[in-house]
Amino acid sequence: MFELIPYEKFRDTPSVRFFDITIPNSNARDLVSHDGPATSPNNSPEGYWQFYLHPNQEDNLLALTGGRTFYLVNFSWAQPFHIVRLEANGAILRIPPGTFHRSVSDPDGSLVLNQAVRTASATVASEFRVYNSHDIPRLMKATSEASPPPILHGVDRSKLRAA
Ligand SMILES: [Fe+2]
Repeated sequence: MFELIPYEKFRDTPSVRFFDITIPNSNARDLVSHDGPATSPNNSPEGYWQFYLHPNQEDNLLALTGGRTFYLVNFSWAQPFHIVRLEANGAILRIPPGTFHRSVSDPDGSLVLNQAVRTASATVASEFRVYNSHDIPRLMKATSEASPPPILHGVDRSKLRAA
């Protein structure tokens, strides 16, 4: 299951924020900046949702600025489809390997730091493949309106777009 991980805030004032955001076993870092309401990965040219899935990488995602909404699908979970909201300086979202995920930024964009944990077999090709939900019937079904609705975590349902 995914987790929302708290961390120690030494100081959190309007003018100074000083946090310990260490993920102890992280061995890779990536930074994803969305300038405006971007979607990662992009929808397909036909408009279908696309997802990342890392076979050999755990993500640990912290929004540094702005807000971003993550769509998670993992068929090993009792309810496979969850939508999780990340706000700047909020909890760190841990996404386990094998989870389809995509994210949509707020209108003003967002900056997200990923303190990843990669195994020795992780490569750029294996970890950053894009999966089109149109090509994966089970994924398409899980995210369609005909299926049970996603479980929301900090998300206002009225702001979500239909699949
Ligand atoms: Fe990821």
